[in-house]
Amino acid sequence: MIKFDNVSVSFTNKKGQRVDAVKNVSFDVKDGEILGIVGTSGAGKSTLLRTVNQLQLPTGGHTIVEGKDIGTLSGKSLAKFRHSIGMIFQQFNLVSTKTVAQNVAFAMEIAGRSKEEIKQRVPELLSLVGLSDRADVYPNTLSGGQKQRVAIARAVANNPKILLCDEATSALDPETTNDVLQLLEVINIKFGITIVLITHEFDVVKKICHRVAVMDKGELVEIGDVFDVFTKPQHEFTKTLLSHTFDLDLPGRLTEDKSKPLVKIIYNGEKAENAIVSNVVKLYNVDVNILHGKIEYINDKPFGILIVQLIGKQDDINKSLDYLSNNTYRTEVINERY
Ligand SMILES: Nc1ncnc2c1ncn2[C@@H]1O[C@H](COP(=O)(O)OP(=O)(O)OP(=O)(O)O)[C@@H](O)[C@H]1O
Ligand SMILES: [Mg+2]
Repeated sequence: MIKFDNVSVSFTNKKGQRVDAVKNVSFDVKDGEILGIVGTSGAGKSTLLRTVNQLQLPTGGHTIVEGKDIGTLSGKSLAKFRHSIGMIFQQFNLVSTKTVAQNVAFAMEIAGRSKEEIKQRVPELLSLVGLSDRADVYPNTLSGGQKQRVAIARAVANNPKILLCDEATSALDPETTNDVLQLLEVINIKFGITIVLITHEFDVVKKICHRVAVMDKGELVEIGDVFDVFTKPQHEFTKTLLSHTFDLDLPGRLTEDKSKPLVKIIYNGEKAENAIVSNVVKLYNVDVNILHGKIEYINDKPFGILIVQLIGKQDDINKSLDYLSNNTYRTEVINERY
């Protein structure tokens, strides 16, 4: 388990001013989970992640990994500890003068593995990431996705318990991103490796993360199951991230029309089957104008969103709203006091 216990990191910038990059952040990353960290640029995501393998020391609080306060480690014990944590980056960081196989072997050499062990394990790792036929080529002949696969093979070479990913798919096209995410998922499931990944893409979170933490201006502003965070976003950043994917911008004339309630209905799979909208029409004698609808899959759970206008007598509308609130994941009137 990783425990961020009131972690703060302050820097002094070139002008001599203090920058509070991370402010009193506390949360746990559970063993075996894939946790996403999202947030605006400069929110402190990378700085926080770097405290996990002591690339960055907290200036306040403690980052505790597997029960050890990372800040107390140094020398050999720090080096040994670092081998139990793999890390991948946006820009791959491969050694250009070494072949694919040598890049992976290098990580094991540094960790003091025997020649025999390396000889046996490198082909296994390359097979795991689907690059067996590229063992002897140099990184500059590989595509971005292939380079990241090499970086992943290298990162897991020493059987780490934790894999840290800082914008690992940000330089890749959507299709390659999917392949890399699938590989990360395999690694998570097959080896039980805990993965903490920073991303600015909702799609990445939605596809593989179990939980998500949202950071803003150095602070943790939201954390929870991906489904919960994205169906009940609290913070502006989370709302923006979500609204992009749901494309919820309706024409102004609809939101400005206060004569009829404009209702956002969010429902999950089970509820979707209950024909909620047609029930409202039948039970309460209102008309329902469907303006927008979409189903997304978050963590394999269907998550539907509908925007409707309710037309009818006030009393019937109130009853319809009650019914919707009780029978959907969430129902919300989005044109303030219609
Ligand atoms: N070594 C440093 N010295 C001074 N300031 C730093 C240093 N590293 C980071 N910062 C500052 O700390 C803040 C947080 O930076 P950080 O890189 O952690 O943000 P981030 O959330 O990862 O952003 P991005 O999404 O752009 O990668 C920023 O204001 C940044 O300029
Ligand atoms: Mg960053």
